[in-house]
Amino acid sequence: MAGMDKKNIHFVVNGDPVSALVGPEWTLLRALRDGVGLTGTKEGCGAGECGACTVLVDGTAVNSCLFPALEAEGRSVTTVEGLTQADGNLHPLQKAFIEYGAVQCGFCTPGALMSSKALLDQNPDPSAHQIKVALAGNLCRCTGYTQIVEAVQAAAAEMNGTAAVAAGNGSGAAATTGAGASGAASGTALAGVTGAVDQPGHASTSGEVTA
Ligand code: FES
Ligand code: FES
Repeated sequence: MAGMDKKNIHFVVNGDPVSALVGPEWTLLRALRDGVGLTGTKEGCGAGECGACTVLVDGTAVNSCLFPALEAEGRSVTTVEGLTQADGNLHPLQKAFIEYGAVQCGFCTPGALMSSKALLDQNPDPSAHQIKVALAGNLCRCTGYTQIVEAVQAAAAEMNGTAAVAAGNGSGAAATTGAGASGAASGTALAGVTGAVDQPGHASTSGEVTA
């Protein structure tokens, strides 16, 4: 009975065609986590307030907790799992978040990374103000945001080939590298940037993966 209204949706996630059986009330967040089994995307508020669930839909950052799963039909979705390069290397944003200590508990990190990617895809050389505006919907309880802004600037510099210049001008790079490196060593930062932080109360699979 409960599954009678479910529909199979077909969409592309991180470049791979997938299908998932979803209910009419399912959000894209639930479809990704429980339908596709990608648990990197996190649920914070579940109400469009915190940005933890941010993913890209056809290149645009959206709160997946508000996006109806059925509307993902035929769309291309990018999640934090899709940031890692084909060769296994982390995306420059992921590396910079670790290096600059922009990851502490890591729960906001997948969403912050995806909002940052959407920004850099449209504006490869954003100002600090533009980064703050782009990340205004991503709440972080831990970092105070400064490290996140610095990390996005550093990633942009690396991607633009101006990293050496930026490092020479940067006030925070040397001071924060040590903290970032120690976080990575403990595993916390790496788990945050790859989306592997545990989310109590959310099953990772429901057996409904059909892709
Ligand atoms: S969980 Fe989607 S905005 Fe908070
Ligand atoms: S909420 Fe903990 S690192 Fe942002």
